[in-house]
Amino acid sequence: MTLRLNRLIASEYSIASAKIGKAFDGFTFAYLADLHDVCVGENNSLVIENIRRRRPDAILLGGDMITERKHGVHMTECRHAMDLVISLAELAPVYYSIGNHEVRWMDSERTHTESFADYKKALESAGVRFLDNRSAKLHRGNDVVRITGLSLPLRYFGVRHETLDPSVINLLAGEPAEEYFQILLGHSPTHHKAYDAWGADLSLSGHYHGGQVRLPFLGGVISTGWTLFPKYDMGMYDLPHGKLIVSAGLGTHTIPLRINNPPEAVYITLTGKA
Ligand SMILES: [Fe+2]
Repeated sequence: MTLRLNRLIASEYSIASAKIGKAFDGFTFAYLADLHDVCVGENNSLVIENIRRRRPDAILLGGDMITERKHGVHMTECRHAMDLVISLAELAPVYYSIGNHEVRWMDSERTHTESFADYKKALESAGVRFLDNRSAKLHRGNDVVRITGLSLPLRYFGVRHETLDPSVINLLAGEPAEEYFQILLGHSPTHHKAYDAWGADLSLSGHYHGGQVRLPFLGGVISTGWTLFPKYDMGMYDLPHGKLIVSAGLGTHTIPLRINNPPEAVYITLTGKA
C-alpha cells in the first residue's frame, strides 16, 4: 500500500557567486529528492501545486524517486514517481539525476521484466532529461549554468561504503566547468568532500531523509546508512570551495516513518553579479 503523507514544507535558499552571470539573477531551481514512490497529498498534489504556484525556472531531481526492493521495480511500484515526474515536466524543464535505488534497479534488470530503461524511456518521452553521469548547460543570454548528475556504483553507498575520490567523479561524469557556475547532483551527502574538491560550486544531496526522526536542537536521528545524528542531514552548509544543500526529501522506505520531519521541496534562487 502506498504511504501517503499530508504535509509539505518549502525551504528557500539563495546562492550568490561571481560565476553566476547577470542573466541568471533571480533564476530559481526547485530541487526534489527521495520520493520513494510515496504520495504527498493525493497523487502528489501537494508537490505539484507547490511547484505550480512558485513557478521555478527548472526542476532538479536528486534521485531515489522509486524504491528498489531487491527484485527490480514493478511498474505498479513506480506509478506515483512516474505520474509526478511527468506532471512536473509540464511545469518546467526537469533534470533527473539518479540515486542508489535507481542504480540498484539498473543492476537488477535481468531478473525482472520491467526495466529501468523502460521507466527512463517513458520519462524521456515526456521531456525529462536524465543526467546519469552527464551534464547539461543552461543558457540565458551569454551566461551559462552547468548541471552535472553523478551516478555512483553501489559500493559508494551503505554502511561499509568506499570513500569517493574526486578523480572518480572525473572518470564517471567528466571534469567540472571552471568558467561556469557548476552544480553537482550527488545523491549521498556522505561524499560531499569529494564533490567540493571536484569543483562543484553547489552540491545538492538528499539520501538521509532528514534523519527520519528530527529532534529539537539535535536534528536528524539516523541516516539511511545507519549513522546516528548525521552531520549533513538537512540544510545548507559551507564547504571549502562551494556550498552543499541537503534536502530532507519527500518520502521514505523500509521504515515508513518521518517524525517531526515533513516532506520537503527545496527552492534555490541564484543571485547574479551586479
Ligand atoms: Fe538514497
